[in-house]
Amino acid sequence: MSACGLAPLPADGTAFERFAADVRAGLGGPGRKSLPPMHLYDALGSALFEAITRLPEYGVWRAERRVLERHANDIAACCQADTVIELGSGSATKTRLLLEASLRRHPVSYVAVDVSPSALEGTRATLRDLDGLAVTLVEADYLSGLERALQARGNAGRVLVLFLGSSLGNYAAGEASRWLGAIRRSLRSGDGLLVGVDLDKPARRLLSAYADPLGVTAAFNLNLLARMNRELGADFDPSSFRHVARFDPRTRDVEMHLRSLRAQQVHFARLGLSVALRAGETIHTESSHKYRTEELDALAAGAGFRPAGHWRDDAWPFLEALYTA
Ligand code: TRP
Repeated sequence: MSACGLAPLPADGTAFERFAADVRAGLGGPGRKSLPPMHLYDALGSALFEAITRLPEYGVWRAERRVLERHANDIAACCQADTVIELGSGSATKTRLLLEASLRRHPVSYVAVDVSPSALEGTRATLRDLDGLAVTLVEADYLSGLERALQARGNAGRVLVLFLGSSLGNYAAGEASRWLGAIRRSLRSGDGLLVGVDLDKPARRLLSAYADPLGVTAAFNLNLLARMNRELGADFDPSSFRHVARFDPRTRDVEMHLRSLRAQQVHFARLGLSVALRAGETIHTESSHKYRTEELDALAAGAGFRPAGHWRDDAWPFLEALYTA
């Protein structure tokens, strides 16, 4: 503890600056309050997300695991990648299925990118006993991590980028196409991109997936307030907020918010910032878009990718789509 009673500043000054800048931009202004979802994933947030993946109501994770259990050999045969770069590797439990199938064909190196050092430790532990797999861990956000991973690729070999877990759905409509364009521009012709997206389904199923009865998703979302207390010296009282998930069937977005239960003032000691919240006002923390197959194909085509394979789960509609640069 430092003299002022706060936890020490994070070792990585740039991560702190980024968090501070995002909080100023997202909470400091007069408009709708929002924060970028990447800040949900500190060590506790990553652990709570792992718990979400085990909830019976969160069908997304198991659907993608089923797709990879059934089709990893086919997918590996279509990709023929020498280097696999995963954006947001988390525990890498599903990734392992694909890497095992790839290693049965030829040697592969794997680069895991994640903002959370504790998630990267999980990645390493899951893959530790995979013989012949060279693993590199990159602690970074998606874009700078992808750039760092590609700098090391040298001349030879084909790269496959993995963007699993319906993470593309966490981008707003325009941002998703810009992000796919940025991935495409960083790849060479013949490289691949494997994207896993959750597909549209009835509101009832989606709402229980994103507002589960045990409150694990609520804890995951509320941890963002606790993280601002820990790292930015804020004085949020998490019990005066409630986790809210809504689904709009027209936009096919699940929106996650933190709703202030009363009018309150929050002070950020490390930022010299005060934020006023009205009773009922919300902080938007994440959206999760539910795709249609044609919609994803059109986005990928607009970014300059060609379709190379579709694999689906029907019990919980989910799409794993492979594209070639
Ligand atoms: N990529 C995940 C998804 O869209 C992220 C996620 C799952 C999530 N549950 C959440 C994000 C709850 C915020 C809150 O499904």
